Amino acid sequence: MSIKTIILAAGQGTRMRSSRPKVLHEIANKALLQHVYETSLSLENNQIFVIYGHGGETVKQTLSSLDATWIEQKQQLGTGHAVQQAIHHVADPDTVLILYGDVPLLKEKTIQTLLHKVSLTSLALLTVNLDDPTGYGRIVRDKDHAVVKIVEQKDANEVELQISEGNTGILACKGSQLKQWLSRLSNNNAQNEYYLTDIIEMAVEDGLSVETTQAGSQDEVLGVNNRNQLAHLERVYQSEQAQALMEKGVTLRDPARVDVRGSFAELGQDIDVDVNVIFEGINRIGSNVKIGPNCLIKNASIGNDVEIFANSVIEDASVGTGSRIGPFARLRPQTELADHVHIGNFVEIKKSTVAAGSKINHLSYIGDSEVGSKVNIGAGTITCNYDGVNKFKTVIGDGAFIGSDTQLVAPVTVGKNATIGAGSTITRDTPENQLTLSRTKQLSVPTWQRPVKQAEIVPDNSPQSLAPCQSEK
Ligand code: UD1
Ligand code: CA
Repeated sequence: MSIKTIILAAGQGTRMRSSRPKVLHEIANKALLQHVYETSLSLENNQIFVIYGHGGETVKQTLSSLDATWIEQKQQLGTGHAVQQAIHHVADPDTVLILYGDVPLLKEKTIQTLLHKVSLTSLALLTVNLDDPTGYGRIVRDKDHAVVKIVEQKDANEVELQISEGNTGILACKGSQLKQWLSRLSNNNAQNEYYLTDIIEMAVEDGLSVETTQAGSQDEVLGVNNRNQLAHLERVYQSEQAQALMEKGVTLRDPARVDVRGSFAELGQDIDVDVNVIFEGINRIGSNVKIGPNCLIKNASIGNDVEIFANSVIEDASVGTGSRIGPFARLRPQTELADHVHIGNFVEIKKSTVAAGSKINHLSYIGDSEVGSKVNIGAGTITCNYDGVNKFKTVIGDGAFIGSDTQLVAPVTVGKNATIGAGSTITRDTPENQLTLSRTKQLSVPTWQRPVKQAEIVPDNSPQSLAPCQSEK
């Protein structure tokens, strides 16, 4: 069976009150339209068409990497008209699946169920029972419960408005029949639109049965029309991500306070995630990893037995087995930490490698550096890697000890097992095994006296002298 999926995405989305086309608004950092696209990608033997319109060029450009055929609907004359734009790509034996670009959480399973109900004698329709069906097309059934037609809200009579079964808009049918039905559509209705929903009545007239199915949840078929619905579906999506993580054996201290905006290429055993942790992009996380509260982990590779303490940010970086990061650490892109590295509070590392067993525990900036193994970098050490124009490299040999408050002015190399005295500004390479320091000599002045405050030597009759003394005893 060959499938042609037509994703309708030409609507304006005025209620978003945004300059951005609606389908480019995001759930978990991914455009609504891309969610729909990715779900339909999982179908075999499927070709995807996107009908775009309002602000469409932006949509097309932003999502140009999608393996889909983009078709412009120059005027939005209705859902039926939208499908007509793609119909010449459909062959008679194809099964056509209609999806909406603003209904992002539809599940593959639901689509499969729908597709299984399609044949030359049946059209498949996804419906939803709603407490408040306002705005939805209503599914009209006869006394044998068979679907006879869909009537739009604006065209419905009093009795029809009472129907709580709504049309999701998602349906599937055979190509040959769809072509026939579309050619017969008219816009003779309350909105002067070509309604796709009119094909239901035509199918019934042609002797087909309309097979309905419902999704696993209402949220699955919910469309995004405003920011409120966008936020709601973000929470629904995040709750699904949290469930999935827990099913894979991850401990979440609070499943309502973790956000996954991406995926996991690897997920070890016994990962413990505290509250307000955000995972972005593609992460790999080993076993026995503890992640403290308020951490952002993005495109990271975290080895086994790692502990990441509160408020740390790790982005495009890798952390070796047994390492400890934070609290308040920031690992920026191209940071590679080997095993058993300790990175402490207010330490920023960028584009640097740190070999096994090294420690950078307090208030440091290490950029464009190659740090050897078992190096100890004291508090407040800074690699001065930038002269305002170019970046230069700092190399620190194995076993080196960098005293606190040292500036390493790159390009510079600190030899193996070298010690740098605290407070040094190192501008030239330092030899192995030796102490190097640059420091002005300490000086004490025995005759020096503190200056006295002017106010304390005013005449006796001044108002200040009447003020109570600090101590008169
Ligand atoms: C449509 C259905 C209605 C259903 C509801 C579910 C029709 C006539 N009505 O109504 O039965 O209950 O969806 O949300 O189909 N679009 C285009 N081009 C157009 C018009 C729409 O691409 O010319 C796209 C929109 O971007 C949107 C989808 O089609 O993704 C639905 O359009 P919308 O205007 O929201 O349809 P409704 O009037 O809500
Ligand atoms: Ca709608």
